[in-house]
Amino acid sequence: MSPESARRTWAPLRLGLTQEGPRPAAATLAPRPGVGIVMGATGSGKSLAAMAVAEEFLLQGLPVVAVDPTGQWRGFGKRLKRRDLRGLYRKFGMKRPQRFPARVVPVEDPDQEMDMGAAPGSITVLSGPGLRPGEVDRLVARLADHYQRAPPPGGLVVFEEVHRVSPRYGGERGLEALGRLAREAETRGFLLLLVSQLISDLPPEALRSPALHLQMYVKVPEEVERAGRLLGVPSRLVTGLAPGEGLLKTGTASAVRIAVRPPFHEPHGERKG
Ligand SMILES: Nc1ncnc2c1ncn2[C@@H]1O[C@H](COP(=O)(O)OP(=O)(O)OP(=O)(O)O)[C@@H](O)[C@H]1O
Ligand SMILES: [Mg+2]
Repeated sequence: MSPESARRTWAPLRLGLTQEGPRPAAATLAPRPGVGIVMGATGSGKSLAAMAVAEEFLLQGLPVVAVDPTGQWRGFGKRLKRRDLRGLYRKFGMKRPQRFPARVVPVEDPDQEMDMGAAPGSITVLSGPGLRPGEVDRLVARLADHYQRAPPPGGLVVFEEVHRVSPRYGGERGLEALGRLAREAETRGFLLLLVSQLISDLPPEALRSPALHLQMYVKVPEEVERAGRLLGVPSRLVTGLAPGEGLLKTGTASAVRIAVRPPFHEPHGERKG
């Protein structure tokens, strides 16, 4: 294994601010390779949080791949314009928006020929907003198998909207393939980030000892309880979060409450399916 693919940790990723002390401080994340989960209800801010992680990998010159069934990850090549999010830059000590080297691959057929690789410092987005649920399942299974064989060295692999391959959506092979990929992430030296609404929709392998867990707000009582248990915090902390706020737990450290920074790039608004 090359030193890059045998990576044991990354330089701190700047995700936002934490209010745990007397005054706001930088919320950084130094994950080890393995599985990270970003969980929360719709509109809680999971995608923007996962995008902040992706931007930090890109800023470190590392390769990123995003599997994006709803088309929300297509904006990395554009600088942030949204004024509400730009308005938060000062609070987070951010200066200018920026774009990133991005390659967006439109997926119309889960079996189509496509280049699934990512260059260092660049994001490859495999985006299939028009796919039907069965096709998303096939695509996720295919890509999870691919990245198990050929992970981006020392990089990040994001699977968005993982709940879409759960049995609730008629998923079969996608979730199993993600479970196999999850088992490999630590030894292969990459971070696998799974973004989903419900912890119960994740493959069990992702929950054994997540390298990181970022929990945004949820309301469903069983999910609130599951999240609290996994984080080791009282459930009321999970329900008390606003959009863009989360509880961040890295490895065995205690969970801290953070405000996630806005993105440097323009997140793509459109979603379908
Ligand atoms: N860190 C943040 N700072 C400020 N606003 C945020 C932040 N995160 C999310 N928001 C607000 O919440 C909206 C929804 O965020 P996001 O798309 O990340 O949610 P989501 O959990 O991925 O939802 P969905 O399940 O619909 O994909 C954003 O468009 C933005 O208005
Ligand atoms: Mg989202």
